[in-house]
Amino acid sequence: MSSEVVVEVSGLRKTFPIYDKPHHRLFQMFSRARRWHREFEALRDIDFSIRRGETVGIVGRNGSGKSTLLQLICGTLTPSCGKVSVTGRVAALLELGAGFNMEFTGRENVLLNGTVLGLERREIERKMPEILAFAGIGDFIDRPVKTYSSGMYVRLAFAVAIHVEPDLLIVDEALSVGDEAFQRKCFARIEALRQRGCTILFVSHAAATVIELCDRAILLDAGDMLADGAPKAVVSSYQRLLYASEERAGPLREQLLRDRLHSRDEGRLAESRLPGEESRKLAPPPDSSTDSVERPYFDEGLCSQSEVAYLSQGATIEDPRIETMRGAQVNVINAGERYVYRYRVRFDRGASGVRFGMLIKSLTGVELAGGVTARTEEALEWVGPGAGFDLRFEFTCRLSPGVYFMNAGVQGRLGEEETYLDRRIDVVMFRVMARRDRKTTGFVDLVETMEASPLEGNTETA
Ligand SMILES: Nc1ncnc2c1ncn2[C@@H]1O[C@H](COP(=O)(O)OP(=O)(O)O)[C@@H](O)[C@H]1O
Ligand SMILES: [Mg+2]
Repeated sequence: MSSEVVVEVSGLRKTFPIYDKPHHRLFQMFSRARRWHREFEALRDIDFSIRRGETVGIVGRNGSGKSTLLQLICGTLTPSCGKVSVTGRVAALLELGAGFNMEFTGRENVLLNGTVLGLERREIERKMPEILAFAGIGDFIDRPVKTYSSGMYVRLAFAVAIHVEPDLLIVDEALSVGDEAFQRKCFARIEALRQRGCTILFVSHAAATVIELCDRAILLDAGDMLADGAPKAVVSSYQRLLYASEERAGPLREQLLRDRLHSRDEGRLAESRLPGEESRKLAPPPDSSTDSVERPYFDEGLCSQSEVAYLSQGATIEDPRIETMRGAQVNVINAGERYVYRYRVRFDRGASGVRFGMLIKSLTGVELAGGVTARTEEALEWVGPGAGFDLRFEFTCRLSPGVYFMNAGVQGRLGEEETYLDRRIDVVMFRVMARRDRKTTGFVDLVETMEASPLEGNTETA
């Protein structure tokens, strides 16, 4: 990575006029004397710089100003205050609708887009077959873009963006539209561009993607820049904010903002003392030490909102939790480590044929793993009223990064039939931390070794 600054944003602020009635917009066009609108501040106090070769992820809740920021950087919007400067050729994949002319055909748009980006017409025509092959939209290339599905639109836009050899590639959540096979292909191309030294700025909701792909991340929230630093730390702040209750979210964002402004001002102070080093000081290199394995911890904000408690029938599940082997309660855990899922059960009625169970589910409800303390014929014959049990389910976390949910259940016989005496669905929510060195995919991490041995007679294998 070079020290050359490619994007420099300072004191940036963007306001949009809000008109209470549509005709007020018209009045405003003819009257400078009166103000017919209110101002909505979409971004304030934004400062950062990006060096050549950096891959920077922007995260934040909906409406936090991510798309506005990207548009200010590409120049499709102008700042209300402050400055944005960009060096080199910028290719951008903005939200659907921005970028292509809907009335023109795909082919015409490719030519237009390429020309706007400063390519010679001949150069674009030379690249056309490759662009078409990548987009894979067949005959649609000669039909107006307005007839495209959102998937086709993104395919073509992406094909253009990566074939114009940009210095800066900007991607705004566009990739989440395409199918997964296409997304993979895009990420592979982004990786190749990145290796050639292209600077990349992208917005993503996928925490794991930001951690795996980015050198650095920026957190925006309601127009404020709350963090700028190592992806892992920034994504972790973002997730805390995302899962925080309303009363906790306020103080949390105040704290993050204070910390960010404090470190910015410290940076400026250091800069004023050391003239000549400003380009280094403007963008401190991300702290790679925070990338090593983080210890598991408990995040109060990570709290299931989908819990379903069935009507208790004589037994009550209490205090379900995940603990480390040393007994500390956690809900943000590491892959590969051992944990205990615990809960207590109290019986206020006698029951026969008793057994206890657990189940881990994915965010989308797929049942990933589970177990019961006994097979039906080995269940506890009789449990008297007033009895209590401590349940411990030890497990090694073989899950990929992401959010998961735990169930808990007590089964027993009421009369002849086995039924749930108490059952809690999605009672514990937990997260497996993302890791930068991850090479496996899917929910479960089962693959232990991966080797590529060259066949005899290979040439040109480095
Ligand atoms: N042209 C516009 N006029 C008025 N408000 C806008 C306009 N564009 C965006 N906004 C508002 O600015 C805020 C930030 O929007 P946006 O940058 O699209 O957020 P994000 O991409 O993070 O979801 C939102 O509240 C949005 O409603
Ligand atoms: Mg957006």
